[in-house]
Amino acid sequence: MSGYHDEQAVVLVLDFGAQYAQLIARRVREARVYSEIVPFDITADEVARRKPAALILSGGPASVYAEGAPHMDPAILELGIPVLGFCYGIQEMALHLGGEIPKTDIGEYGFAELEVLDASSRLLEGLPERSQCWMSHRDSVGTPPPGFTVTARTATTAVAAMEDASRNLYATQFHPEVAHTEYGQQIIRTFLHDIAGIAPTWTMFNIIEETVERVREQVGSDRVICGLSGGVDSSVVAALLHRAIGDQLTCVFVDHGMLRLNEAEQVVHTFRDTFHVNLIHVEAEERYLRLLAGVSDPEAKRRIIGEEFWKVFFEEATKLEGVKWLAQGTLYPDVIESGNKHAAKIKSHHNLIPFPEGVHFDLIEPLKALFKDEVRAVGSELGLPDEIVHRQPFPGPGLAVRIIGDITHEKLEKLRHADAIVREEIGAWDTKREVWQYFAVLPDIKSVGVMGDERTYENPIIIRAVASADAMTADWARLPHELLARMSNRIINEVDGINRVAYDITSKPPGTIEWE
Ligand code: XMP
Repeated sequence: MSGYHDEQAVVLVLDFGAQYAQLIARRVREARVYSEIVPFDITADEVARRKPAALILSGGPASVYAEGAPHMDPAILELGIPVLGFCYGIQEMALHLGGEIPKTDIGEYGFAELEVLDASSRLLEGLPERSQCWMSHRDSVGTPPPGFTVTARTATTAVAAMEDASRNLYATQFHPEVAHTEYGQQIIRTFLHDIAGIAPTWTMFNIIEETVERVREQVGSDRVICGLSGGVDSSVVAALLHRAIGDQLTCVFVDHGMLRLNEAEQVVHTFRDTFHVNLIHVEAEERYLRLLAGVSDPEAKRRIIGEEFWKVFFEEATKLEGVKWLAQGTLYPDVIESGNKHAAKIKSHHNLIPFPEGVHFDLIEPLKALFKDEVRAVGSELGLPDEIVHRQPFPGPGLAVRIIGDITHEKLEKLRHADAIVREEIGAWDTKREVWQYFAVLPDIKSVGVMGDERTYENPIIIRAVASADAMTADWARLPHELLARMSNRIINEVDGINRVAYDITSKPPGTIEWE
């Protein structure tokens, strides 16, 4: 992707592999400076053309001496742009500028005590003599290149940081971008603000102003259509576009009837009544239920719901005159994953929109430079309610994947009701939003119970609540017994047709977060 706005200073993060580049880009933005990730083999000419205010070389899993190891264009280091290298980045700098990297078998992994050796270091200015840093490497620089001063060491790494202030080149063997490095963010800020002289102007206000301006330039007086699901990304796209182009925007909210209690009402209320967005609310539950009747295979359910979404959406979209653009909530991590030829995981489905024969809209992706936390902040700044901005991840097919077996209106109502109790109770207890996700599941089994004097034969509800950082792995949440007891009592008393409540105590792996 190209730069954000010409006048917005950009820091380019050269990606040498592993996951560090994304974290670095986020840390730079937390320092209120706009950043983009570029492949490590970007040429010096291309860097010069982009006119970045600074460069950061990321860490990476390779050894600089390994066959096929990623190497940067060394001419980049001659451009006079301030450069900061981390981990593999310090070694790249040393390799190209005449330092020495002895081959050793002693690596350093985990916490280390960083000792500042040179009180006049520009990069380490303000650090105490000793602090904690995070190391993860095998090779390390033995002798720095000519012109460089060693500014810090650890017990096992002689060159933990080095700099040549006259050429504006700085590097650390440790990882300032990880939270375990005590003064990491301070080092990043010193580099960006003091050394590279970049003003910290990447604020929510600027993000919104610039995005709005960009959208206006891009669409002119054309009309735009946007699919609204009630999720964070599409909601922020809609609010942002509405700010930019007002009535030129029409949102289509395909309500498949498998949302949680009051969710559809909230989407309609927020967008139609509060923001006054042109909103088409398609109430399609019956249509979906007809298609889903008797279908219990989870993949089949997902496919039917996904395909029907686009059918309904295009039915509405093609009724409107003169629409040129289709807005999508693609985020920066999606762009990195699908656009970086070196990324291990290729995710391209984001752009695969099944346009019907003869129909085409150009895509507008106003969030494609933003990380998720920035999207949430933009949403709040635009006045979206917390329920939307801090919404937990929720599958596109909605409650359909939380009903095991076939789907009926009655089952949906039962699950919606139980789920509302779970959300209300855990939400009231988890005021700091520490639990990643919590919800109810309706399995396709019945068991015997007794209520009053009567024998019952009904469904159970399963409560799922997990702690997680990114949904890749998760642990079941250690909820207090009193909270579990309260939910159990309420669900059994308040939801008809439920005679038992179970709590899922499975981590991921081996389980998944959702049931299906
Ligand atoms: P699993 O169940 O695989 O889920 O552990 C991982 C995370 O992904 C969410 N999820 C979805 N999110 N569309 C989404 O936007 C989907 O179809 C979907 N399916 C699962 C799930 O809630 C969890 O956070």
